[in-house]
Amino acid sequence: MSPNNVKVSLKQHFLSLGLAITWLSGYLAKAQDFRPSFHFVPERNWMNEPNGLIKIGNTWHLFFQHNPTGNFWGNIAWGHATSTDLVHWQYLPIALGSEDGIQSFTGTSYYDGANDSGLGTSANPPYLAFYTGYFPDSGVQDQRVAYSLDQGATWTKFFDNPIISREQETPHDESGGLETRDPKVFFHAPSNRWVMILAHGGQNKMTFWTSSDTKQWTWQNDFTSGNITGLPDGIRGWEVPDFFELPVEGASAPQMRWVMLITPAVGSPAGGNGVFAVTGSFDGTRFIADPVDPATMWLDYGRDFDGALSWENVPASDGRRILAAVMNSYGGHPPTETWKGMLSFPRTLRLKEINGRLRFLQQPVVELDTAGTSLTSMTNQTILPGQTMLSDIHGRALDIRLSFIPAPGATLSLAVRKGGSEQTVISYAQPDNTLSVDRNASGNISYDPAAGGVHRAALSPDESDVVRVRILVDECSVEVYGGEGQAVISNLIFPSTSSDGLALTATGGNVELESVDVLRVSL
Ligand SMILES: *[C@@H]1O[C@H](CO)[C@@H](O)[C@H](O)[C@H]1NC(C)=O
Ligand SMILES: *[C@@H]1O[C@H](CO)[C@@H](O)[C@H](O)[C@H]1NC(C)=O
Ligand SMILES: *[C@@H]1O[C@H](CO)[C@@H](O)[C@H](O)[C@H]1NC(C)=O
Ligand SMILES: *[C@@H]1O[C@H](CO)[C@@H](O)[C@H](O)[C@H]1NC(C)=O
Ligand SMILES: *[C@@H]1O[C@H](CO)[C@@H](O)[C@H](O)[C@H]1NC(C)=O
Repeated sequence: MSPNNVKVSLKQHFLSLGLAITWLSGYLAKAQDFRPSFHFVPERNWMNEPNGLIKIGNTWHLFFQHNPTGNFWGNIAWGHATSTDLVHWQYLPIALGSEDGIQSFTGTSYYDGANDSGLGTSANPPYLAFYTGYFPDSGVQDQRVAYSLDQGATWTKFFDNPIISREQETPHDESGGLETRDPKVFFHAPSNRWVMILAHGGQNKMTFWTSSDTKQWTWQNDFTSGNITGLPDGIRGWEVPDFFELPVEGASAPQMRWVMLITPAVGSPAGGNGVFAVTGSFDGTRFIADPVDPATMWLDYGRDFDGALSWENVPASDGRRILAAVMNSYGGHPPTETWKGMLSFPRTLRLKEINGRLRFLQQPVVELDTAGTSLTSMTNQTILPGQTMLSDIHGRALDIRLSFIPAPGATLSLAVRKGGSEQTVISYAQPDNTLSVDRNASGNISYDPAAGGVHRAALSPDESDVVRVRILVDECSVEVYGGEGQAVISNLIFPSTSSDGLALTATGGNVELESVDVLRVSL
């Protein structure tokens, strides 16, 4: 993402707010500062979206848009951290810095096993990092490559950058190369070529490029909002493309679909930016999109899931497509003083045909399952209207799993981070099959006009009338996964430290609780 976007662009927001908050970060560092327990945040200072996600050997590499010298958007480099389980992260030095007046914007890491780039050797093929070079003085955005010959530990910028210059971008970009960014790059084996997808900021457009050596690129075609049948109006400012193939589960015959993820700056269900997905076919040059269903295209219905990207190079023996995004839709506003921007908990993305419709299913990665310790577990109980359960359980970092059958007319509500007048309320309302998260009393919501409100997603019970909800709570975040993961709501919250209670209640009818599990996740 970048500042040269439609009016509401995140980064534009960040630029104007940056100066105002700089002084704060020095003085007011609180010890705790809402630092999450099992989510990644920078050790210090600013991050926006993840980029260059790649698995190398047993190591998950996380790179992220990072200002190493300030707690505001600016001076953007690729920060770096690694993990062997996607839960515990180790901070590493900056991978790609902001140097010579050129910042390092979002892109892709990819293994060049055949040394097509010539930047490694056949004995030690290179890992490549494609990124956008941003020139803050002129606003130019061009495309660049760096390489690693030590399994992703350190990265060297190619001496002959850029690989796509502003001049080469200009005929394909309305702004003349000022909004061309976020390269998604991969090797397409069937056509034996490298493919790059570039976003064009406010233009609701991606361009497809191809290359045989990763250094010389040829424009192939434009893919715009006009190429997606059924796309509602008002979804504008496309950024951060991701693109990969997924198997279709539940199909009558084995089938693969290509999936494009797009983060528009405006038009998401919760307002502002968000992430939607489009399936289609791809021949190495042209992406033919399937018609989209406005009811199923959004990956998240909360306010805080932007710039989603997936890990590349995950071995076939694992086979998962794992996404992460940034949680923070409020620029420099959130009341954290030593850091800003949090990585969503990594989640798998699957594609499944349910009742003849393709659905995107997301779940927290299973590595979390063994990270928690049980606080309570119950099965087969009925909760009646007026009754309250779980009020003896406390915690600020929790993994909660509910499985229940609501009677007609019933609503089941779980308040988390409850204390005094504060609570964040997750509800499932049977009358309209709706999952919701109400942040209106969640704590500090005065830091930004979009910080409160209620977010909703449609969710039907499964074929046994059971509703399943998984809730991750972590100091300043709530991520709610409904059903098999077809309805997800992710939000930041800023409650008082002392608000650590729970309350499970029913209204309008009985709810049969098949199972309730509450785990504490402290690493
Ligand atoms: C890899 O690239 C290097 C540098 O250009 C070159 O010397 C070497 O021959 C290449 N190896 C292969 C297998 O292409
Ligand atoms: C998108 O639509 C335009 C206009 O109809 C067409 O020229 C272009 O080829 C389409 N792009 C793709 C990738 O199909
Ligand atoms: C909420 O956070 C903002 C930003 O840090 C701060 O200025 C404000 O005082 C906080 N409000 C409350 C009620 O704590
Ligand atoms: C809960 O009820 C279900 C359905 O009646 C039953 O199959 C299951 O064994 C029960 N579980 C426990 C732990 O009692
Ligand atoms: C939550 O706050 C929003 C914005 O202030 C308001 O429109 C809405 O009615 C509130 N919802 C509830 C359930 O209190």
